[in-house]
Amino acid sequence: MTVFIDSDNTIGTISPKLHGQFIEFLGSCIYDGIWVGEDSDIPNTRGYRNDVLDVLKQLHPPVLRWPGGCYADTYHWRDGIGPRENRPITFNENFGTFEREDNQFGTDEFLQLCELIGAEPWININLMSGTIQEMRDWMEYCNRAEDTELSRLRARNGHPEPYNVKYWGIGNEVWAGGGNMTARMYMDKYRQFASSMPKFTSSIFEQSPIYAIASGPDTNKPRESVKWTEDIFAELSQYRQPPIHGYDMHFYNWNISDPEDTPTDFTQEGWNRVIHGCLELEDIIQTQSQLVNSGLKYIPQPEGFWDSKLEHVDLIIGEWGNWHYSAFNARPALQQQVSMRDAITTALTLDLLQRNCDKISMACNAQTVNVLNSLVLTDGKDMVITPNYDVFMMYQPHQNATALNVPRQDSQSGAYIFASQKDNRITINITNASMDAAKDVNVVFANDVEIMGMKRLESDDPHTCNTFDDPDAIRAYTVNDEFNDGMEFNFHVPAASITVISARIL
Ligand code: AHR
Repeated sequence: MTVFIDSDNTIGTISPKLHGQFIEFLGSCIYDGIWVGEDSDIPNTRGYRNDVLDVLKQLHPPVLRWPGGCYADTYHWRDGIGPRENRPITFNENFGTFEREDNQFGTDEFLQLCELIGAEPWININLMSGTIQEMRDWMEYCNRAEDTELSRLRARNGHPEPYNVKYWGIGNEVWAGGGNMTARMYMDKYRQFASSMPKFTSSIFEQSPIYAIASGPDTNKPRESVKWTEDIFAELSQYRQPPIHGYDMHFYNWNISDPEDTPTDFTQEGWNRVIHGCLELEDIIQTQSQLVNSGLKYIPQPEGFWDSKLEHVDLIIGEWGNWHYSAFNARPALQQQVSMRDAITTALTLDLLQRNCDKISMACNAQTVNVLNSLVLTDGKDMVITPNYDVFMMYQPHQNATALNVPRQDSQSGAYIFASQKDNRITINITNASMDAAKDVNVVFANDVEIMGMKRLESDDPHTCNTFDDPDAIRAYTVNDEFNDGMEFNFHVPAASITVISARIL
């Protein structure tokens, strides 16, 4: 069996925003992980630790979601602005974090981090314990260019220019920690919040630059998630439609059935469970995309002069990643190591998001630093890059490329394949998800190509991870195999490895 790469068989353009990230006030994701404060012994730039800042700059995440997650639903943004010494002390009880929260990292620190690393911000508002006025004020503070009390306050806090935040989430997992709501309860609230958002445009004919994101289903519960989406769209069809641009589903690859299985100690069975678990997201995307499209058909389009039509809603995966059992008892909260098993599922998840780029508009890895499926781990002054970071870096050439329609799996070898094309450059990923067997994959192109380069992430032992003592145990490296130009190539890929090949059409 051979994988045929056909440039004419395309799916769509891969939005860079499929490579998004998520940071929240949990464990040491933000404090210690990103923010140490200006007076820290840890080298920093205006309070952001330099080592993490440097790797985030190289990563250049296209979108960064904050402040939660669950945390967003009890967060009052005014606690986190102004002189840091005057900020109130609150308490964070989320997911075992259980510590004082001195609000040193707030709206300006987050938005200036986004500026430093070139990420577009996504702010989730407080739907549960916040008010509409609080949300409006937050948006005014961030975005109002005109001279107002809140734009003056922003200027006094060091940022006269508006931040122009486009993405605003209304509610987080509202079916659980975000209020335990029914679809009807949520839509009643959503309607009021979404239609109260400032528009930031002077013309009633001009579209508002604001992009409102609704809370989608818990996709880890397939039956309930179908009902959730059906109910949400049934609600939407009843009254005037509020602005809704994105629909945010969350998917965790739960690895909690075997308490003995840890991020660094697992059996072949545990390996298989986690690898296959991540692939379930693909069916969920197909199902939810169909549900949203058929739900939209029943939305009566408004006749009123003022109302805008609701013909399309973007699907978003606002949180995804592996969640191992040990994370529940971890200190700092939710910290887990990242082995080759996690790197493989990160690669396969990015593959499936890219392959469904005609259905998914944005996605955020949960979370960037020190929490769950991390790209970076810190401990005091030390920092280590996880293999997940290398996967995201290796996948950068797919951003803005056209996804090609190739079979997900090479049926002979069993290796997973993804390919995209930008101009005359084709990028192919081959992920060998076997724990112990190397594989040969035969790739045939429609034209002669030159193999321009190849990067690989692998480890002799799939349990290996980067530690503070051995920070480069698994790092991507350049493969120097020599290939003649041609149409057909055999790639020999080691067990538990990810290979990204760059080919130029001649
Ligand atoms: O990412 C950790 C938590 O997982 C988030 O706060 C919440 O949205 C989800 O349940």
